[in-house]
Amino acid sequence: MTVLAVAMQKGGVGKTTTTLSLGVELAQMGARVLLIDIDPQSNLTMALGYDPTEIEHSVYEVLLNPVHGPGFATIPTGYGVDLVPATLALAGAELALAGRFGRELLLRTALQETRRAYDYILIDSPPSLGVFTVNALTAADSVLVPLQAHVFALKAMPQLEETIRIVRQLNPALQIGGVAVTMVDRRTSVNALVEDAIRREYGAVVFQTVVPFNVKLVESPAAGQPISAYAADSSGARAYRDLAQEVAARYGK
Ligand SMILES: Nc1ncnc2c1ncn2[C@@H]1O[C@H](COP(=O)(O)OP(=O)(O)OP(=O)(O)O)[C@@H](O)[C@H]1O
Ligand SMILES: [Mg+2]
Repeated sequence: MTVLAVAMQKGGVGKTTTTLSLGVELAQMGARVLLIDIDPQSNLTMALGYDPTEIEHSVYEVLLNPVHGPGFATIPTGYGVDLVPATLALAGAELALAGRFGRELLLRTALQETRRAYDYILIDSPPSLGVFTVNALTAADSVLVPLQAHVFALKAMPQLEETIRIVRQLNPALQIGGVAVTMVDRRTSVNALVEDAIRREYGAVVFQTVVPFNVKLVESPAAGQPISAYAADSSGARAYRDLAQEVAARYGK
C-alpha cells in the first residue's frame, strides 16, 4: 500500500482534481482506494457530491481521536473509492490542535492500521502550510505534486521542497515521488516552455502524462461527480486514466 500526499503550497493548481480523478481511475483498475479530505475548504468532499454541512463524522474527529482510526468517518462513495470527508468545522481544528503534543503525527497515527486495508490512500491537502498540510506530509510515503504549467507554479516548488526537508525530521523517507503537469494548453507556447523547464528541472519524477486544460474538469466538481462519471470521453478523463496507469506502474506492488 502507498500513502500519497497530494500537495503544493499554491492554490488552484489541481490538487483536489488530481486526488479525485486519479483515485477513481485507480479504483476502476481494481485497486482499493481511500481518499482523505484534509482541507477545510472541503472541495474534495463536495466534488464527490456531499454537502459538508450534512457530514456527521469528518476528518476533524479522526484527528481528535487518532487511535480509533478513520473507519467511523469513512464513507463508501458510489465511485469505487472510500472517502474521509472534511467539513468547514475543520477550520477551527487548527486552533484546537495548536497546543496539542504530537499534533503533526495525528493522521499518521490514525492510518497506522487502516493503511493495510487499501492499495492507495490519497490525501488532498490545503494550499497553505499549516497543521493539515504537515499532517498529510507526515502520514505520507511520498508526495505527488500537481504542477500547473505556469511560471508562478514552478516558482512555488522550492517552498514545497523546503517544507518537505523540515518534515523529514518526522518522516525521514519523504520525497517528491511524482510531478504531474496539469492545466496544459498546448496551443500556447508559454505552456510548452514551462513544461520543458519542469522536465529539465525535475527529470524522471515528472510523469509522461500531461493533464490538458479541459473545461469538463471545471464542470464536474460542480455536478458533484468525478470526471470519469461526468464526461468519460473528455480529454481530462483520458489524461487521468493514463496518469493512473503510470502511478500504478510507479507505486504499485
Ligand atoms: N486540467 C484542468 N483543466 C481545467 N480546469 C481545471 C483542471 N484541473 C483543475 N481545474 C479547475 O481549476 C480549479 C482549481 O483546481 P483544484 O480545485 O483541483 O485545485 P487545488 O489545487 O485543489 O486548489 P486549492 O489550493 O484551492 O485546494 C477548479 O475549478 C478545477 O475544477
Ligand atoms: Mg483543493
